[in-house]
Amino acid sequence: MRLQPDEEAMLDGREGPAVQQAMALLVQYGEALGAERMVDVKNVCGANIFTPAQKQLAGGGDPAALFSQWSLNSDRPLSIPPVRVYSCQLIGPMDREAWAVQGMRPEDAQAILASEAFSAQLGIQLMNTCTPYQVGNVPVKGEHCAWMESSAVVYINSVLGARSNVEGRESAAAAMLTGKVPYWGYHIPENRRATHLVWVDWDVESVMDWGLLGYWIGEVLEDEVPVIDNIRHVPNLVRLKHFGAAAASSGGTELYHIPGITAEARTVEEALQGAPPRRVWHYGARERRETWEHLNSTGRDPEVDLVMIGCPHASIEQIWEVCRLLNGRRVHENTELWIFTPRALRHLADRNGYTEILEKAGARLMSDTCPAIGQFLPKGTKVVAMDSAKQAHYLPAIMGVQGWFGSVADCVEAAVTGRWQGGLQ
Ligand code: F3S
Repeated sequence: MRLQPDEEAMLDGREGPAVQQAMALLVQYGEALGAERMVDVKNVCGANIFTPAQKQLAGGGDPAALFSQWSLNSDRPLSIPPVRVYSCQLIGPMDREAWAVQGMRPEDAQAILASEAFSAQLGIQLMNTCTPYQVGNVPVKGEHCAWMESSAVVYINSVLGARSNVEGRESAAAAMLTGKVPYWGYHIPENRRATHLVWVDWDVESVMDWGLLGYWIGEVLEDEVPVIDNIRHVPNLVRLKHFGAAAASSGGTELYHIPGITAEARTVEEALQGAPPRRVWHYGARERRETWEHLNSTGRDPEVDLVMIGCPHASIEQIWEVCRLLNGRRVHENTELWIFTPRALRHLADRNGYTEILEKAGARLMSDTCPAIGQFLPKGTKVVAMDSAKQAHYLPAIMGVQGWFGSVADCVEAAVTGRWQGGLQ
């Protein structure tokens, strides 16, 4: 790779061993990908909160030693300097207040809080969510970023027009310390060209329908870039959040274009950058039904143990909607209703009275984590209902449970009645 003088200086160790190790990792990463140079980044989202299990695997050590090993791939403990650019913590393993509900031991909770405090001391913003764009980290069009978390990257790339690949823990941590990442993938304008055209022959309007469309696109297109045509209703943040998260979990979608809606394509031709699409796909009633059946393929028992809402983390609008759908009713005695939201929005929910409404109904509002990342469920859970195609994709596989997927109204009904009665209209 061709390095600039400031990058050479970091690689030579003139900024200390941690920055040197970070730059060495980035050079290795860039060379493996055929990148010719680095690009400056001023907005990084990564994950540097470590669990006691990770500490044990690393053979113990203080937070700096864990950061060295897990984030910078160095067996030698390094002194970690403050981050060089604006950096945020993504979702972590634990709700800092409701850790006991997760079944966590106090000493494990303390260890995670110590790891979190170390990150804060480095200058990493403790947003602790998979949706930093919901709580103030909103990159602008053309801004080069280094973000982990596939659902967040597809959102900022497509909806906002920012430029990021899906980074890993190490490359994101290295970017925090250097302000650099290799210039490859979606940093390069030509790679942002749509390669496939998807013609949508269905009236996609609801959040559930956006999730189904996203899941289908990820399945058929894998990591190609689609331009999606014939969308009849302008979606909102929640719909595109569910759409992108679904596409990034069934496939590897990191970027899509919807002419007139997403940031970089006013027309189909502009999204295709003047080239013909490699293939035209059609999404209609059959594709929609097959996708819904696939997402419900692990569901057998109608008795639901847990209803989970908030994958990706719920917006305040979604929390408000759950409160309205509950409409004064209580969660069934054999069922739990858990809603996950960024902590910053949790404060807003507290202030608006939504937390109280949910608690009175027997539901729980949680933050900082989710069942897939923290790997926890209420004791004895066998059947989970959810409104997220992404969670329906992962949770049965990760936690060995049955999963039902449907609308948020279906989910709230399941929470209140204890039974899954969702279907496809
Ligand atoms: Fe976020 Fe967890 Fe879903 S990280 S996108 S709530 S699986």
